[in-house]
Amino acid sequence: MDICVVGTGYVGLVTGACLADIGNRVICVDVDKEKINKLKKGIIPIYELGLKDLVKRNQKRKRLAFTTDLREGLKKSTIIFIAVGTPPKQDGGADLTYVENVARQISQYMTSYKLIVEKSTVPVETGAWVKHTVSVNNRHKVKFDVASNPEFLREGQAINDFMHPDRIVIGVGSKKAEELLVKLYSPLRAPMVITDIKSAEIIKHASNSFLAMKISFINAISNICEKAGADVEKVAEGMGLDKRIGRAFLDAGVGFGGFCFPKDLAAFIKIAEKLDYNFALLKEVEKINEFQKKLLVNKIKDNLWIVKGKTIGILGLSFKPNTDDIRFAPSLDIIRLLRDEGANIKVFDPQAMNKAREVLKKVKFCKNPYEVARNADCLVIVTEWNEFKKLDLKKIKKLLKQPLIVDGRNIYNPKALKKAGFKYICMGKS
Ligand code: UGA
Repeated sequence: MDICVVGTGYVGLVTGACLADIGNRVICVDVDKEKINKLKKGIIPIYELGLKDLVKRNQKRKRLAFTTDLREGLKKSTIIFIAVGTPPKQDGGADLTYVENVARQISQYMTSYKLIVEKSTVPVETGAWVKHTVSVNNRHKVKFDVASNPEFLREGQAINDFMHPDRIVIGVGSKKAEELLVKLYSPLRAPMVITDIKSAEIIKHASNSFLAMKISFINAISNICEKAGADVEKVAEGMGLDKRIGRAFLDAGVGFGGFCFPKDLAAFIKIAEKLDYNFALLKEVEKINEFQKKLLVNKIKDNLWIVKGKTIGILGLSFKPNTDDIRFAPSLDIIRLLRDEGANIKVFDPQAMNKAREVLKKVKFCKNPYEVARNADCLVIVTEWNEFKKLDLKKIKKLLKQPLIVDGRNIYNPKALKKAGFKYICMGKS
């Protein structure tokens, strides 16, 4: 099929490349000339496992093209995915300016039937607004449909998530739209949930909010475990084996970050407010998440006594492993809180150093974890990168001023660390 994807951010680029890989002709459109020029040369602006090869392979096969010209993108395409940003506004609601602009432009340029699909995460009723916007500006009186097809891609495993989804959600208002999307996704052989547009929009926000709630729930349990002298990992295991609960997203730690959960939670709370419902449960999920970062800082303070003038080594800046994304990463708040206390900060991350340099000032960027540990009063794990799990702990112990590790992601075995001579502080167990 001929597909156009508008927006070559994280979601757009992965969607475009994967749709090309399963046999479609895809043209990706973005207003950012520099980005498009780079993409044409096979230079990928984000770090995502396997994406570079996927883009190159499909460019070679002439199934994936890039342009800044929306008209060119629309010419041959029947299905148009809107995958532009929906950044948070001051009040937590989603800013839909880009979505509206794209909808308007599509309606002005289209000359044959188009199925316009929302791919970005948007509040319920956006589909109705897109339909209204396209109708109002539909110069050539062209037939069109609107659909919602939310993405469930996790950064770091987005390609795998696209190719092997748990489900595909298709929100439509016509048989034709349904048939087109079912045909498009049939090679993936995944369960499809076919519904109306509003329900599809809510599925996305409800899913992300539910996962965030699971994380805050286990973090609350983790704090109870700490006080009671229990082990949160065993509790998570015991809960998770119940199929109705499931073990996923029950890892206690410094909480969730990234550009999806915090933003989507805030947006969903705002949507509910507009619909005259006070979603207090989700407000509490946010509060628990904020508390976890302060908790980690308090653990550091409790073990260093005076933080002012001390050197604290931070391992991990990205909001989770296998990505260079530091947006809303817990590390940023933790570093800010420690700097406010007067600490000197040294940091290392396997992928996020360049992005971190743009936002973190007065911090020493180190070449590796050992340089972070050298002469530090405390080593803090903020992101559970695999390479941190395999550190030479003997070497780390020699390099640290005192053998203190505060682990915000529970990557080590407490007994082994204690045996190795460390004072080891983690989350929800001792
Ligand atoms: C999330 C969802 O998982 C995707 O399904 C969704 O498509 C995406 O948002 C989106 O809306 O675009 P992502 O933000 O890439 O994906 O990250 P996750 O892997 O879900 O992790 C989110 C955060 O939760 C991370 O900071 C992670 O460290 C934290 N987390 C996760 C925990 O603290 N504990 C857990 O048990 C699991």
